[in-house]
Amino acid sequence: MKITEKNRVFILETEKTQYVFGAADDGTLCHIHWGDKAKEDDFAARFEANEKHRNGTEELAKNEYIGNSGQIFRPQSIIMNYADGCREALLKYQSYKIKEENDSMSLEVTLADEPYGIYVTLIYRIYKGYDLIERNSVIENMSKETAVIQKAASAELNLPSRRPYYSLNPNGSWGAEFTVEKTQVRNGTLVYQSTHGRSSHTNNPFFVLYENAGETYGEVFFGALKWSGNFKTEIARDWSGSTRVVIGINDTDFSYVLRPSESFETPVAVCGRTIGLAEMSNQMNSFAVEHILPKRYAKEPLPVLYNSWEATEFDVDSESQQRLAELAAKIGCELFVMDDGWFGQRKNDRAGLGDWYVNPVKFPQGLKPLIDKVNSLGMKFGLWFEPEMVNPDSDLYRAHPDWIYHYDTRDRTQIRNQFILNITKPEVKEFVFEVMDRMLCEYNIEYIKWDMNRAFTESGAENLENAQELWVIHTQAVYEIADRLKEKHKGLQLECCSSGGGRADLGAMSHFDMVWTSDNTDPVDRLDIQYGFSLLYPIKCMRAWVTDTNRYSRPYDWDFRFNVSMQGSLSIGGNLSKYSEEELAIHKKYIDLYKSVRNVIQFGRFYRLANYADDGIYATEYVGDKKCVLFVCKNVNSFYKDRYHHVKLMGLDPDAEYSVNWERCTEKFSGAYLMAKGLDIEMGGTLESKIIVIDKN
Ligand code: GLA
Repeated sequence: MKITEKNRVFILETEKTQYVFGAADDGTLCHIHWGDKAKEDDFAARFEANEKHRNGTEELAKNEYIGNSGQIFRPQSIIMNYADGCREALLKYQSYKIKEENDSMSLEVTLADEPYGIYVTLIYRIYKGYDLIERNSVIENMSKETAVIQKAASAELNLPSRRPYYSLNPNGSWGAEFTVEKTQVRNGTLVYQSTHGRSSHTNNPFFVLYENAGETYGEVFFGALKWSGNFKTEIARDWSGSTRVVIGINDTDFSYVLRPSESFETPVAVCGRTIGLAEMSNQMNSFAVEHILPKRYAKEPLPVLYNSWEATEFDVDSESQQRLAELAAKIGCELFVMDDGWFGQRKNDRAGLGDWYVNPVKFPQGLKPLIDKVNSLGMKFGLWFEPEMVNPDSDLYRAHPDWIYHYDTRDRTQIRNQFILNITKPEVKEFVFEVMDRMLCEYNIEYIKWDMNRAFTESGAENLENAQELWVIHTQAVYEIADRLKEKHKGLQLECCSSGGGRADLGAMSHFDMVWTSDNTDPVDRLDIQYGFSLLYPIKCMRAWVTDTNRYSRPYDWDFRFNVSMQGSLSIGGNLSKYSEEELAIHKKYIDLYKSVRNVIQFGRFYRLANYADDGIYATEYVGDKKCVLFVCKNVNSFYKDRYHHVKLMGLDPDAEYSVNWERCTEKFSGAYLMAKGLDIEMGGTLESKIIVIDKN
């Protein structure tokens, strides 16, 4: 880890990569290199940054953070609107600062649009042990005039090859979040974005680009934005074959007014370059645990959770929840979460949101008897809230119809029969904090599932001078409330949910301890979802329920369902009161097994060994210091033709001896053997699955 500057050329050295840029003679900040390491002196002459930016014209130049001035027709990082009518941002190099922190170093490069007193500081931070660079920008108004930011990206990134890259991003929907599509980036601009007010089920705020790469080979360039609101990722390939990425807050319906002395900081994008997808996922996985997740629980394994939603939906009451809690404790759950339905006049999704008092008919003595029972069974208690929302049929809405985003001249669109509270109003933000704080003070609630079940429409905020700032202020308010709750209630864990995985991003993971990935708990679908999630997001954050939902009448046995959910943070969501003793015993067996390996799953190195499309099976491997766990699943295939499979393990110590615990016997092999020769695995019929625990001797 090293940052150097010589002759206005900056070299950031991570473990295995170099990121190089320089200020050209005319002050433009030009990108030079991102990839394997060359020698420092190779870049010192700085000729790369000159000659009208090396590629002959300004139009083809590679830049670090370009404005919309001159011959820049591609996606820009910054667009300004100045008081005198000038709508161009033209930034020139001013100065730099290098700062050393404990396990990180940062470089701050300041650019200025001098006639307008606008200073833009680009921040680059590298961390010991990683090939990742955190990037963002701070825009400061040092003039006496107000200026308006029309667009401010977090980062602009240039890729080296002139050949077309492949891009991975979800083409998702509710129930199919993270289902990744591979798209070739031909000439033009490929845009992934959200205008939903949350990061959305459709595209996710990340990019993964490679020319020719797989799990273990090929250069992979990637980045993920720490932001849960509207985002935009533009991947542009120009006529000369250069590919650039501009990633940040979405500029659609966005502007930000910068008065004299004010500044605006863009969210951080965590970017990187690795060889192979496996290295990318592993770096991002451990980086999230080390540097992104809220500190309190980041390095603790998540408890096995029971959630009542699929079992009881809105039909909750003290007695039935206590019965479920008894069964949840019996099978080994450590945390009992009561989902929707406990508050106000909530009988279905048409009423009650906003009225966060305990329903007196369902819980005549409040929540105490239930929580006491849950605690006496040795479990923690968690509760569902959807704090940003209100149903029109609620006391809150009747009292404060002006507390929602709206336009007086437009109908108020209901989605899932609800509106969004305008938490850019300080009194509404305070109300949202207080409803949860009050419940946390009154009861021993140690976990909140924070849901958000609709996208924004009629986004009017009459309280704001510039309502186009609401996209930023709303998301920041969510983070602020989450942080305040955690600050006041020290042991509190937070789960971020948005109709499943509508807000599953690095921003959420900086303030919440985990995310709910999808409402779709069908295990075959779930494997696709988990694959997409695992690319850039930490395994431990991925709550994965075993349920009895059988939406598509696929004949899953419990082994298959547990196999899939144990690949993340195992949770239980079925109606336990309908299960036989034998089924409960199966649950207990798997939960016990999970507890014995969860450190490996939540914190180990992770490898995707096989996938359906290429291999006919889905196989993942988790490697810890003493154990390794192999999950293999088979979907629908011919019994005879597709019976034998072969997987080579990864990430083992070649010199160590390992015991492979098959169902009926144990075999010993060296790590080298398991990685070079691999294992032959017989997978009989449709929807068969195996969990193979391998001990390091
Ligand atoms: C959303 C969530 C579910 C559940 C319901 C409750 O759909 O994704 O997990 O909490 O709301 O209404």
